[in-house]
Amino acid sequence: MADFVMPPHQVADAAVRLVREGADYGPDLLIIGLGYVGLPLAAEAVRVGLRVTGYDVDEEVVAGLSAGRSHIGDVDDNDLRSMLGAGFRATADESELGWPETIVICVPTPLRADYGPDLGAVTAATATAARLLRPGTLVVLESTTYPGTTEEVVRPLLEAGSKLRAGEDFYLAFSPERIDPGNRDFGIRTTPKVVGGLTSACTEAAAAFYGKICDQVVRAGSVSSAEMAKLLENTYRHVNVALVNEMAIFCHELGVDLWDAIRCAATKPFGFEAFYPGPGVGGHCIPIDPNYLSYKVRTLGYPFRFVELAQEINARMPGYVVDRMAELLNRDAKPLKGARILLLGVTYKRDSADLRESPAISVVRKLRSRGAQLLYYDPHAASWSVDGIAVSRAPSLQSGLDAADLVALLQAHSAYDIKEIEQRARVLLDTRGVVSAGERL
Ligand SMILES: NC(=O)c1ccc[n+]([C@@H]2O[C@H](COP(=O)([O-])OP(=O)(O)OC[C@H]3O[C@@H](n4cnc5c(N)ncnc54)[C@H](O)[C@@H]3O)[C@@H](O)[C@H]2O)c1
Repeated sequence: MADFVMPPHQVADAAVRLVREGADYGPDLLIIGLGYVGLPLAAEAVRVGLRVTGYDVDEEVVAGLSAGRSHIGDVDDNDLRSMLGAGFRATADESELGWPETIVICVPTPLRADYGPDLGAVTAATATAARLLRPGTLVVLESTTYPGTTEEVVRPLLEAGSKLRAGEDFYLAFSPERIDPGNRDFGIRTTPKVVGGLTSACTEAAAAFYGKICDQVVRAGSVSSAEMAKLLENTYRHVNVALVNEMAIFCHELGVDLWDAIRCAATKPFGFEAFYPGPGVGGHCIPIDPNYLSYKVRTLGYPFRFVELAQEINARMPGYVVDRMAELLNRDAKPLKGARILLLGVTYKRDSADLRESPAISVVRKLRSRGAQLLYYDPHAASWSVDGIAVSRAPSLQSGLDAADLVALLQAHSAYDIKEIEQRARVLLDTRGVVSAGERL
């Protein structure tokens, strides 16, 4: 076994960096997976002076990044060019990775067809990390996953591939990514970073690393509580969104303005956080992450009922929105079949270009099956297809508004002129509670 002494858990951050023998150390930081999570982390790490290499299996992504073209909204081409100027390198070639001091894994964790977690990318990235491990390396998993993954899946693969022992020869930790794409108030530096290590020395090693990049590091008591913290945050959001979505449906029937009720309730300075209804939930986190937790709970032989109920309610919302469109057209004696519908805002998130899991996709499927003619306008999506069939894009907001029998505001991007939408739309359904004239969800 290589010569390596694990420092006691009380050691100061500076002492956690272990002495490594050899001349070619490789980068300070290797990020595996250069997507929405990995690339912004690389940008922050370069900004604080770390030597960063990014590894991604997608050669197109690597070629684009190497040529100065960013595919991620939170890192623009200018940011990327400064990163490249400061030594950042993206590669798809494992042989170029050297001997990194820290390895952070930021690869996707999608769901399988049976809603179980697909850890294929995590295991492949872990195998890559195992081949690069040396005594003293810190490995951190950032991908969202079920509690237990770091210890039960990542640890054995790293140990088998490197013949080193986690917590004795190298450090292993989980640190949930909390990135909120498009958020101008909170970025990687200003969002507190939770870290949970396999041992206290592992936690300290991870805290020392993230302390260079983030203003505040929060030490979890264990790896699994760091993993659970992320799922708690997202499940909390999922369940609360479902609560207001269910309320939106019956408030409409009761003739109660839920948006106004939320506005009033939100004035309570303690014990209440405002959540808002909408056409459903989207993105990689909210619709997907709670499934990881359900999956783990099911191994105990019973369901996680809150999550399953929230999923059922949120998944119904696109269909409910389409029913409301039909109801509005019906008031003017028009059928949904053949009606020209303009969808405004089709990304899953405000001011973001991310179309993954957008509820607008289900809205399109339901409108198509009912014979509506579709048009969309979204300043963040130059083209858009659902099930391989392109949805027509209006050349401008104005022309789209003029052409449509009904306008559905699915995402209230700040670029939209809400007044113009209110004035020009023949019939308007607002699913985001931003218009004062027109029908709200
Ligand atoms: N996007 C978000 O807002 C967000 C927020 C919090 C947490 N997360 C979590 O972070 C993780 C990463 O998400 P993302 O949104 O950055 O995904 P992404 O799809 O944007 O990027 C992941 C990248 O990893 C690459 N990749 C896949 N397998 C690889 C491998 N074996 N080796 C090297 N590269 C590989 C892909 O080519 C892709 O470029 C997921 O677990 C996600 O749940 C995402």
